[in-house]
Amino acid sequence: MLGKIKIANILVDSIPYIKKFRDSIIVIKYGGSAQQNIELKENFAKDIILLYMLGIKPVIIHGGGSKISSMLETLNIESKFINGIRVTSKEAMKVVEMVLSGDINRELVFFFSHYGIKAVGISGKDASMFEAKPKDFDAFGYVGEITKVNIDVLMKLLNDGFVPIISPIAFGDNINHPGFNINADSVACEIAKAINANKVIFLTDTKGILDEKGELIATLTPKNAKKYKDSSVITGGMIPKIDACISCIENGVKKVHIIDGRIPHSILLELFTSNGIGTQIINEQQSKS
Ligand SMILES: Nc1ncnc2c1ncn2[C@@H]1O[C@H](COP(=O)(O)OP(=O)(O)OP(=O)(O)O)[C@@H](O)[C@H]1O
Ligand SMILES: [Mg+2]
Repeated sequence: MLGKIKIANILVDSIPYIKKFRDSIIVIKYGGSAQQNIELKENFAKDIILLYMLGIKPVIIHGGGSKISSMLETLNIESKFINGIRVTSKEAMKVVEMVLSGDINRELVFFFSHYGIKAVGISGKDASMFEAKPKDFDAFGYVGEITKVNIDVLMKLLNDGFVPIISPIAFGDNINHPGFNINADSVACEIAKAINANKVIFLTDTKGILDEKGELIATLTPKNAKKYKDSSVITGGMIPKIDACISCIENGVKKVHIIDGRIPHSILLELFTSNGIGTQIINEQQSKS
């Protein structure tokens, strides 16, 4: 009986949070590093379904770094990273798109559909949702940067009760172009800015952002985040993520969270409990209040 009362208390305690987030758009970046096994993916889908049932409008952007790396290795195509960004040759671009749009995206859509949610898997190519330009072709090859998000298709899906699951790929500018590989963290950020999302949550494979001693930093402002980046405490895949967080906060998104996608139900812990988990990135004014 006591156990059941505890469950009821947890539900009641979450009322203020449910009220706060109801009807709001929350962008969730599901990192490839947090997709390590089937249980994690299934739990992720269930958490998103709960958010959806509670009246929140989730928009999912997925990465796929580790799966892309192993497929490139199988095909003997070199993988090289500069500041956490994968240098993408024409050959590698085909594999990137195949893994992201053909494998990971389809699998996530299946999980959602399996539990009765109307999920629609799309990439930035669909309805020309992303407009992009090369980041720096000589250095990165077919890595793109978003110049514009055309939000019409996204808003239509959200307003009609669909959950969009987005693969971070965009068209190139000519018929022979293989398309652009866009870092999924920056995609999450550009989408959040374009649709005025309430917040962005990045699910990854660390507790959050760790300091020089390896301890979790609970709260960061863009100014402090830049210091950690400049002093090389933040490296590799965390660089594009923190750049995306800073850009979100500097462009009107109220809060951004980096949380551990390996912890079951980490999204629910972040959204519906008072302390939250992971690292939150907020602006200077919020940090003083
Ligand atoms: N200061 C830091 N704190 C935490 N993680 C850091 C830090 N600096 C670098 N990292 C690295 O960043 C990694 C997370 O970025 P990564 O790109 O690997 O994952 P992801 O973005 O979740 O997945 P994907 O790129 O496949 O979507 C961590 O596993 C860690 O190795
Ligand atoms: Mg990454």
